[in-house]
Amino acid sequence: MKVLDAKFVQGFIRMADDGFQQGWHERNGGNLSYRIKDEEVDEIRDQLSYDREWMPIGTEVPGLAGEYFLVTGTGKYFRNVIIDPETNIGIIEVDDKGVNYRICWGFTDGGRPTSELPTHLMNHEVKKRQTNGKHRVIYHAHTTNTIALTFVLPLTDEVFTRELWEMATECPVVFPEGLGVVGWMVPGGREIAVETSKLMEKYNAVIWAHHGMFCSGEDFDLTFGLMHTIEKSAEILVKVMSMAPKKLQTITPDDFRKLAVGFKVELPERFLYEKE
Ligand code: 13P
Ligand code: ZN
Repeated sequence: MKVLDAKFVQGFIRMADDGFQQGWHERNGGNLSYRIKDEEVDEIRDQLSYDREWMPIGTEVPGLAGEYFLVTGTGKYFRNVIIDPETNIGIIEVDDKGVNYRICWGFTDGGRPTSELPTHLMNHEVKKRQTNGKHRVIYHAHTTNTIALTFVLPLTDEVFTRELWEMATECPVVFPEGLGVVGWMVPGGREIAVETSKLMEKYNAVIWAHHGMFCSGEDFDLTFGLMHTIEKSAEILVKVMSMAPKKLQTITPDDFRKLAVGFKVELPERFLYEKE
């Protein structure tokens, strides 16, 4: 099968375009990766090449030894993925130690995987272990309203989770475990990857202050849906904060406890603190 005809490649391209249409991917902003299933690799194996050099990942991910990923390229624009996928995305293989990768398909103009590869792969390693291989998608986007909030809210998991839960009744059902926040750091390296992947042990979404967000999920729909839900909630919060200094009414801690019973989700009490 041609790589571009594979269902997972089509799903990946559609998600990249959906993100662009949302306004989350100015210029080369954001990146996406998918851990390819063994049977999907088998379908396209005759299209892969194994003659390119191994390159350092920039961190160690032994739990991903031998895995293949479809990833967006560094410096590539999400808006171009749909018109020229072979140049803007590529398939990489991780070596048997989890320290190097090589390009097996795509990046036809000599491109390379995203500069956030360390964070993508460290997040994948955590999620593969933690979900018994269920999670396959890691997505980074420059979500406007979420970024705006990192200038005015305290940068804690508790405050961000609680404020975003309050803005839309579906939020605690979509991300009952809450979400994490990383204070401003230099992007693109191992250090921010380590901090992000630590939070991915607890959460499926992590906000990078003054930068954007990372989400993890089983498939393209769930991962895009998580990003979309959080960013929508952030948009409502920005509107609410712009309209009035204080909310007149909101969803209360007891309302959340009732919701938890009704929707059979566990909502950690540390997010249901009393406010003055
Ligand atoms: P890349 O172009 O290397 O993917 O970087 C974009 C980005 O969003 C960095 O955080
Ligand atoms: Zn970014």
